[in-house]
Amino acid sequence: MSRTAVLVARAVFPEVVERLKQHFDVEANPDDTAWSRDELRARLAGKSGLLATGSVPVDAGLLDACPQLRVVANMAVGYNNLDIPAFNARGVLATNTPEVLTETTADFGFGLMLAAARRMSEAERYLRAGEWKRWRYDTLTGSDVHGATLGILGMGRIGQAIARRGALGFGMKVIYHNRSRLPAEQEAPIGARWVDKATLLAEADHLVLVLPYSPESHHAIGAAELAAMKPTATLTNVARGGIVDDRALIAALRERRIAAAALDVYEGEPAFDPGFLDLPNVVLTPHIASATVATRRAMAELAADNLIAALTGGTPPTPINPEVLAAR
Ligand code: DGY
Repeated sequence: MSRTAVLVARAVFPEVVERLKQHFDVEANPDDTAWSRDELRARLAGKSGLLATGSVPVDAGLLDACPQLRVVANMAVGYNNLDIPAFNARGVLATNTPEVLTETTADFGFGLMLAAARRMSEAERYLRAGEWKRWRYDTLTGSDVHGATLGILGMGRIGQAIARRGALGFGMKVIYHNRSRLPAEQEAPIGARWVDKATLLAEADHLVLVLPYSPESHHAIGAAELAAMKPTATLTNVARGGIVDDRALIAALRERRIAAAALDVYEGEPAFDPGFLDLPNVVLTPHIASATVATRRAMAELAADNLIAALTGGTPPTPINPEVLAAR
């Protein structure tokens, strides 16, 4: 009897591929070749499962072309690369990797915010360029993080983890905006206060974006929102490209309408607007907020857990659309 076949679309830890091979016929991509959409579709033919990452779009057209596909295990917490209504309409399960990356991503987001506020990247470039000749009272002076107001847009798990760091580690006042307000018992330990978006923009000294990307959150921070921020404020994005209007941000940074920004994600990444490269007041990293060895391993293992469970009659631990399972 032929075994169930799965496709691993991007390079992952070899041990995880070996684990999948204990259950399935596996076609992997150890060289991390960039497959075109047509190539992905061709390789998916006859496969019941796909282990994807956030950079692998799966839409209605691909699902229609691969009717045998039963599950896509996304090795990411964000899943804006998956057209979930199309999955639901076709009874295809989607899974993601929440929880395992929360603290790691919060560490990085908080670090990026600190780097922007204290001009760390700019300072290193200054030193490496041999510009450090003598001490001056105003050399690379930034803004304080401790005691400042931390604004969080999107108060999910990662937003709350960043808020905890700010409130409990740095004595920051935490304000947040989210569709739903946290229960009082979650707000109280960190003194978090729900505010409307206008208040968040006006009051935050350091604004961190941690909301999912969707048509509703597209350009949630554009020219008008940047104009509403304090000229001394920083903006950090560890969520998704497209939440910020990058061209508007470049203009605001160039004209010093906000003090600084720190970005891990970009519209159209891995391409990004070269206008950022000329700006001293932006910290730029290549979508690595969850990139520690332990966390990436945990993400890959959880994606594999989901794939194995979904295709061997088990219960996938972290489904995005569990209603599909209920209907099976
Ligand atoms: C996630 O898990 O969503 C991270 O952004 C990695 O893609």
